[in-house]
Amino acid sequence: MERSREADSLTPADRQWWRDAVIYQVYLRSFADDNGDGTGDIAGLRSRLPYLESLGVDGIWINPWYESPFNDGGYDVADYRSIHPRFGTLEEAKSLIEEARDNNLRLLVDLVPNHTSSEHAWFRGALASPPGSPERARYHFSPGRGEDGSIPPSDWRSVFGGPAWSRVPDGEWYLHLFDVTQPDLNWANREVREEFDEIIRFWLDLGVDGFRVDVAHALAKDPEYPDVGEEVEELLATPDSLDHHPFWDRPELHEIVRGWRSVLEEYESTVMVAEAWLPSWERMSRYLRPGEYHQAFDFLFLQSPWDPDEMRRAVSEALSHSASVGSIPTWVLSNHDVVRHATRFALPNDVDAREWLLDGDRSLLDERRGLRRARAASLLMLALPGSAYLYQGEELGLPEVHDLPSEVLQDPVWEDSGHTHKGRDGCRVPLPWARTGASLGFGSNGPWLPQPPWWDDLSVEAQDGVDGSTLELYRRALGLRRHHLRGSDRLEWVDVAPGVLAFTRANGFACWVNFGDGTVAMPPGRLILSSGDLPGDGLPGETAVWVQLDHQE
Ligand code: GLC
Repeated sequence: MERSREADSLTPADRQWWRDAVIYQVYLRSFADDNGDGTGDIAGLRSRLPYLESLGVDGIWINPWYESPFNDGGYDVADYRSIHPRFGTLEEAKSLIEEARDNNLRLLVDLVPNHTSSEHAWFRGALASPPGSPERARYHFSPGRGEDGSIPPSDWRSVFGGPAWSRVPDGEWYLHLFDVTQPDLNWANREVREEFDEIIRFWLDLGVDGFRVDVAHALAKDPEYPDVGEEVEELLATPDSLDHHPFWDRPELHEIVRGWRSVLEEYESTVMVAEAWLPSWERMSRYLRPGEYHQAFDFLFLQSPWDPDEMRRAVSEALSHSASVGSIPTWVLSNHDVVRHATRFALPNDVDAREWLLDGDRSLLDERRGLRRARAASLLMLALPGSAYLYQGEELGLPEVHDLPSEVLQDPVWEDSGHTHKGRDGCRVPLPWARTGASLGFGSNGPWLPQPPWWDDLSVEAQDGVDGSTLELYRRALGLRRHHLRGSDRLEWVDVAPGVLAFTRANGFACWVNFGDGTVAMPPGRLILSSGDLPGDGLPGETAVWVQLDHQE
């Protein structure tokens, strides 16, 4: 083991460092491009570690950086132990891991266990082998239905659109819950399990602190492949039926997770965070039971509209359900799969942002309001007990780039959905680091997705050291959070005024968020931080404040 920290020198808080950590999601392809090929890389990330340190985050999670044909942004892994040349080399990855450690940054990598790429040696081997062979048994191959087997084995639909089964020349079908180039692995197969234990050990031996686990609610499949008979979306709205669902959130998957956890336990202070889109906190808490995941992203919080009652419910339910299994929530507002929250909050609550992207009707969009609300929501999130994940660029207040021309779109969702969903490219546009340059400081040449020219004003250069900028708001919030909120899980709601969400934490720290449009009275106490201007005596609409309550310093 190359890990340097000694077990005995760890304090209990250290062992559970993740409980209140803030992790920054690095979408490597769009973070910083060192070699000028238009794509972000490890060298670019290494050169920006001081930026992340000055931001005040505790660690980073890096999206898949492995060898891959990149049909789904790298979530189609061809080799789990190698780095894609466009990102750099394994040697560079090792240097990054060391440097992150030297900068006191934890480092998580992405584990993609539900499917491989169709370019993976295993899948190539499966295609070259006959039906019924051990090579095919690592995936879900099945004969079709109907006299000539030309009807797929079941009615399952791919998450990206179209059928979830594709046929190979000898007549068998294989399952892919995502793109046709992402065949699903068969987790009932012993070799699959053993291989992933070794992949986990490979990265932990290199010194990473853990894994974000992709589509953690898939993995197990009903071996009979029964028809679903309903659309995925409808199913997610009816939690009870999940107990019997043939591929989502099946009870057997928890045993797989416990296996991974026992591998992680061979190492000190490691962590696993589940990406599981689930319809209720009750279902989510099952992933957080002792011996399973340390963390699970709270996507129900992410999906809450700008509404104090819904947000309060989301926070309360997450806290109580996670506490019931001895855990704590993991908050997130944006990531590489969803419309950025500055844009979600710029749309009316009844507009589905993902649907809206298709025509991007500007008359529905109020960008100033979106940014105001996004900044308030971020202060709310960072004041809560638990851990939080930030998505690169949210600290700059970046909106979704909703008007990317269809010719530049790369997300398979655009094609797979038959152009009914625009996909996720709009939240993956490369970061603006400078006011000028071919890619606003991202690299020396044009970026792989075009940046809006007006992002010069949102660049790091434009915001660095500027009082009131979103970047400085995040820096201050993260510093204050460390100082005031570390080590306490306490939260008490306070009813102050209609439309205002207010709570206190330890030692007289309070957060008030005014969801309304009008001004309300300020909380009594000393103002520590505000998400927006405070022109008068009161707390304006769509603004959050952090205060130190009187007599409780
Ligand atoms: C996860 C990833 C997403 C990817 C999908 C298939 O949801 O976050 O980007 O497309 O899994 O791997």
